Amino acid sequence: MAMRVRKAVFPAAGLGTRFLPATKAQPKEMLPIVDKPIIQYGVEEALAAGCDQIIIVTGRGKSAIEDHFDVSYELEKMLEERKKTDLLTIVRQISDMIHVAYVRQKEAMGLGHAVLMARELVGNEPFAVLLADDVIDANPPCLKQMIDQFNQTQSSIIATQQVDGPAISSYGVIDATPVKGNDRLFEVSNMVEKPRLAEAPSNLAIIGRYILTPTIFDVLDKTPLGTGGELQLTDAMRLLLKQEKIFGYRYEGRRHDAGDKLGFLKATVEFALKRPELNPEFRDYLKSLDL
Ligand code: G1P
Repeated sequence: MAMRVRKAVFPAAGLGTRFLPATKAQPKEMLPIVDKPIIQYGVEEALAAGCDQIIIVTGRGKSAIEDHFDVSYELEKMLEERKKTDLLTIVRQISDMIHVAYVRQKEAMGLGHAVLMARELVGNEPFAVLLADDVIDANPPCLKQMIDQFNQTQSSIIATQQVDGPAISSYGVIDATPVKGNDRLFEVSNMVEKPRLAEAPSNLAIIGRYILTPTIFDVLDKTPLGTGGELQLTDAMRLLLKQEKIFGYRYEGRRHDAGDKLGFLKATVEFALKRPELNPEFRDYLKSLDL
């Protein structure tokens, strides 16, 4: 029987040092782009792609994420009393939206380790991993595009994007051959985490969207620590290649690296311009800037 992707894992235990001091007492996943926390963009994408179970891998200091997806009685009561029905709807939508389960990663030991923490909650079925820092503006949503591919291949699949020059060293990089008849799909033959430019096997970078078969858990268990002394998901996927096929998927859409200050600012500007209630004035303001 064909396997269906129902569960989406969000590693969210990282320290967010790139955004200090903003992230000293607040998770980076809760930084807002316009008026929505970064992680909510990813959760909405997973829901729009048909996942109905969200698993968030958290760590110390991340309770704001749990509160965000929970019911806030005080806030709802206040909005009700003040007859702020529009805001009430928005606030209720978040807690009504999903079934969220949390698992704690006690030490930040890498992305592979974070994914391994979700093992029991995922069980023996394929699942998605979304890195909330990568905010992808796409229609259909990036994960939906990938699930459509998965439904045909029933194999693990990772989102990729062309990255030229030294910037490639910030990513996992795949070596792959195009699949005939599908100009977005590649069959992966190797991959390496954050290679130097000269050692990068291609210019196809791994972006923070994955669909993985549950075999990855056994493999992660046996994967030695890699770059930065961390358990790297890329290393485990490379080992998985010995047992199963993995595809790379060049998604259609626009990605913002919201984990980076410049990427975060660009995302803020672009998402603000997409909001009808903000667009006219914000646009005029941007045009008026003497740059
Ligand atoms: C992680 C992965 C890397 C991937 C990147 C995408 O790195 O380890 O393979 O290319 O996400 O955003 P990080 O950015 O967490 O260092």
